[in-house]
Amino acid sequence: MTKKLVAYFSVGGVTKNVAEQVAKQVGANLYEIRPMNPYSKRDLDYLDPMSRSTMEAANPNSRPALADRDARVEDYDVVYVGFPIWWGLAPKLINSFLEAYDFRGKTVVPFATSSGSGIGDVSKYIAPSAPGATVTEGQLLNGETVKIADLAEKTFYDFSVKDGEGKDVPMANFKGKVVIVVNTATRCGFTPHYKPLEEMYAKYHDDGLEILDIPCNQFGAQAPGTDAEIHEFCVLNYKTEFPQMKKSDVNGENELPLYTFLKSKKGFEGFPKGQFSDGMDKMLSKADPDYAKKTDIKWNFTKFVINRDGEVVKRFEPTANMADVEKFVKELL
Ligand SMILES: Cc1cc2nc3c(=O)[nH]c(=O)nc-3n(C[C@H](O)[C@H](O)[C@H](O)COP(=O)(O)O)c2cc1C
Repeated sequence: MTKKLVAYFSVGGVTKNVAEQVAKQVGANLYEIRPMNPYSKRDLDYLDPMSRSTMEAANPNSRPALADRDARVEDYDVVYVGFPIWWGLAPKLINSFLEAYDFRGKTVVPFATSSGSGIGDVSKYIAPSAPGATVTEGQLLNGETVKIADLAEKTFYDFSVKDGEGKDVPMANFKGKVVIVVNTATRCGFTPHYKPLEEMYAKYHDDGLEILDIPCNQFGAQAPGTDAEIHEFCVLNYKTEFPQMKKSDVNGENELPLYTFLKSKKGFEGFPKGQFSDGMDKMLSKADPDYAKKTDIKWNFTKFVINRDGEVVKRFEPTANMADVEKFVKELL
């Protein structure tokens, strides 16, 4: 079950009231984000260019100190973060809160109250304070009774990635299809997987198979080329016809939100017995003895399979036999 927290900051009580309603609605625990130094009436005078709130709003680096660090964010999957709109944005205390905890792999759902302003691009401004988290669009919840759209319940079709030319490719384009998402590299021992992948694409594309090729240079720096070079390599050597996306990260601070989602749905369950599995295990344990406990992508050519209903149904590690991949996919078509 998804564990949810509603964390809110409120000075006048309006956001507090809304946060309580949201927590009830989504079945979440409630947590108050408190500043070390409470805001006085004078601090909040937004007509005074020298007031504390005005000064904080004007300084992108201001991070007011928190009174506590006991939100236990690590216990939750989704954190709804509520605040009053100050100067059209979130108070900087919200950045302090997000930066005080590790939000990687979590979903952050911002909501706010205001005396009239919209919530604008608030999530874009706070997202850098929660690296590795999926920050949904913010929602303005003004009014007596509120209802939050449960954006935390994201599906595969809510994500998009960029193609080699930087254009958005929404996963919603693949509704009703069987999709393989694979992180690739051009100089890897597994690079020959391009051949069976292209064969599968040729055989089953008309029946509804899509393959999404996401080059990634994070494993042994084995995808060093530019997007154009990588594409040329694949077309020349493997005559690939399935769509190739922009080279991207699949682990860490800059990972694609699509990968945060995929990994949250299917973690690492070990390498299947096979030719390269022992070698992979040795190499990865050497770098990180705890590697198997983490959901991170382990190497190039990890394949996620999404069924026609948008469910992430399988994660094939790079060492998996391609004949098994084909068999699995064929059954879904
Ligand atoms: C310093 C400050 C700046 C504010 N800036 C805005 C604003 O830009 N737009 C707006 O609609 N309301 C603004 N407000 C009003 C609050 O967003 C609104 O009253 C909110 O519901 C207060 O929530 P609270 O009672 O939980 O603190 C501001 C309030 C303060 C104190």
